[in-house]
Amino acid sequence: MSRVKVVEVGPRDGLQNEVKNLTIVQKYKLIKKLEKANVKHIEVGAFVSPKWVPQMKGSRELINKLFLAKKSGAAYSALVPNQVGFDHASQTKIKNIAIFAASSEKFSKKNINCSIADSFKRFNKVCILAKKDKIKVRAYLSTAFGCPYEGKVSVTKVVSLTKRLLKLGVYEVAISDTIGVATPADIFKVVSKLLSSEVDIKKIALHLHNTRGMALANILEAYKLGVRTFDSSIGGLGGCPYAKGASGNLATEDLVYMLNGMKVKTGISLNELIKIKKWIESDCKIMTKSYQ
Ligand code: HMG
Ligand code: MG
Repeated sequence: MSRVKVVEVGPRDGLQNEVKNLTIVQKYKLIKKLEKANVKHIEVGAFVSPKWVPQMKGSRELINKLFLAKKSGAAYSALVPNQVGFDHASQTKIKNIAIFAASSEKFSKKNINCSIADSFKRFNKVCILAKKDKIKVRAYLSTAFGCPYEGKVSVTKVVSLTKRLLKLGVYEVAISDTIGVATPADIFKVVSKLLSSEVDIKKIALHLHNTRGMALANILEAYKLGVRTFDSSIGGLGGCPYAKGASGNLATEDLVYMLNGMKVKTGISLNELIKIKKWIESDCKIMTKSYQ
């Protein structure tokens, strides 16, 4: 039976765009519920500037609280944009961080206030420090299928930036459709080009926003081409405050529902996911975006 690794980004990507700010206790409960559903990879926060993304304030306290609790076997990760973020992450026990680069200059400037070239200098420093501390680094490559400020992005650029990220020593690159514009034809173009450029498909993940309802069709296309790691967010929550049109991520419960039907294992309980989605609506008073 085939298996897919699901990376749950709800506590980070899902909550970073919500007007309502959850308390640390609510975020903690959400993560513990995801662990109960047997989710094994959870992005729990971000060491970004609280002036830029106030919703991620308190990530350090949250992570410290998680590490004090009984272990469930889930791996936690958090975003780190620069050395300041790395220093903050180092004050916790987190052993998995994620850098985030962009495929388009304007988005890079809007999101992390620097050019792509400067961002790679920052990420290089972060990766060197992480290696010393035995911290694993994942990477995102945003706007890989289109940019809200520049429009189309070239496939050649996406492949060369992916290779540059891998050269920094990251274990995985999440090719990201930040504003949800990709169709299966675009997925085919990008993934085929990565394959023909000898990028190890095991190091490729897909991170899809579902603005136009294309995410599941896109996952299916990528799955057929050999991608086995997909990001998703409980309840379809998500978006990037610096990317107009990033209206929600692929919902974890929809992804698991589809994969269950295809007899592809994730290890995740769909029933528990549905309970969490209902809890987010009833207890956190946040409207979710999935069907279940
Ligand atoms: P900046 O203002 O250019 O930073 O922000 P700076 O280096 O000029 O420093 C200014 C002040 O910020 C200083 O403090 C620094 O210490 C502080 P002061 O001296 O004024 O008191 N500072 C920090 N504080 C906390 N954490 C830090 C940090 N760095 C500097 N890490 C910065 C640059 C990168 C910090 C800012 O632009 C930022 O935080 N951006 C993050 C934006 C963000 O989180 N976006 C959403 C996540 S990305 C995403 O959603 C896409 C993804 O899902 C994939 C996809 O869908 O495409 C991953
Ligand atoms: Mg995202």
